[in-house]
Amino acid sequence: MADIRDEAASAFEDVFGYTPNGIWSAPGRVNLIGEHTDYNDGFVLPFAIDRRTVVAVGTRDASVARVGSSYADELVEIPLADLNPEHLTGWSAYPLGVAWALAQFGADLAAVPGLDIFVVSDVPVGAGLSSSHALECAVALALNDLWQLGLDRQTLARVSQITENQVVGAPTGIMDQSASLLSEKDCALFLDCRSLDYRIIPLGLEAADLAVLIIDTGVKHEHANGGYAERRASCELGAKLMGVSSLRDLTAHDLPRAREVLDDVTFRRVRHVITENQRVLDTVAALESDGPRAIGELLDASHRSMRDDFEISVRELDLAVETAIENGAIGARMTGGGFGGSALALVAREDVSRIQVAIDGAFAEHALGIPDTFVVVPSKGAARDR
Ligand code: GLA
Repeated sequence: MADIRDEAASAFEDVFGYTPNGIWSAPGRVNLIGEHTDYNDGFVLPFAIDRRTVVAVGTRDASVARVGSSYADELVEIPLADLNPEHLTGWSAYPLGVAWALAQFGADLAAVPGLDIFVVSDVPVGAGLSSSHALECAVALALNDLWQLGLDRQTLARVSQITENQVVGAPTGIMDQSASLLSEKDCALFLDCRSLDYRIIPLGLEAADLAVLIIDTGVKHEHANGGYAERRASCELGAKLMGVSSLRDLTAHDLPRAREVLDDVTFRRVRHVITENQRVLDTVAALESDGPRAIGELLDASHRSMRDDFEISVRELDLAVETAIENGAIGARMTGGGFGGSALALVAREDVSRIQVAIDGAFAEHALGIPDTFVVVPSKGAARDR
């Protein structure tokens, strides 16, 4: 970690020729359980991971914003007056979109000084670990400090969501940015996506000798188009036909009526959300009463529901999950929006390498690309580092 902070600070000086005002960072996330429930006003249980995006940020007397990063050669430069969705494209739409979104919460873009940002990250891009939110949250925290906006972290999560929805064009919910901003070390974030009330739930992985293994399938996903928006539309249709403002308002008792009122596909989408919300509540209860070894079946059931009812898994994710379970994982499921990205497996520490080898073998046997497997540690959320 010290390395990428140093790297960001020195790259900033090289590129912009002065010392940054400060260094901020925000983590990627893994969702333990509660998938496609956030935009249905439901419950989620993600945690921040030990991979972070660091931003070195400086202000100066100028009328432009400039952004550089270690992952793109170009230096993007744009007049402050053009910081709006019409002018922001490509990767710089994430950090600079945040500046625009902050204007909706009191920032006066006509009065702010010139802005320079340099980004360095070790959150893998396209793996379903929310690299884009890590970048947005790091910038949101930095600008909140530098522009003295005094916004709380739930509001900064909204800022990141507005950036995603209105600048990037992805109709995503509030989970990822909340995890990046609100998480604490060794804990998960139990978030009610309707009220944004949350509770920090200790995971106790170390005491139980467990680890969370991520299997990045390498199958790329894009939430700005296709399946994600389609699933969201199905959920909205289901809620409308069931006469509720969101699926959060339905429980298992409503399933018989849903079966009568809805077409088969919409019914299965709705059933996933209803049962997934319940699984989040059950996971929290199990963690609190019996610890992390008690949540395996809930993780497995969540995966089956996403595979069969919500239909957002892909062959590689199913294979990763099945192989992990066959080789002794306590539980496993795909994590994130689906259609690619990563799966997680909750495994005994002593089994980590064996399960990694088994997964590599299974992918090779099915002539699928080589997955990237690594352990993640539940970590603290976004912070000012210097
Ligand atoms: C993506 C979105 C989140 C959430 C998940 C699915 O990660 O960014 O808002 O909807 O998919 O749970």
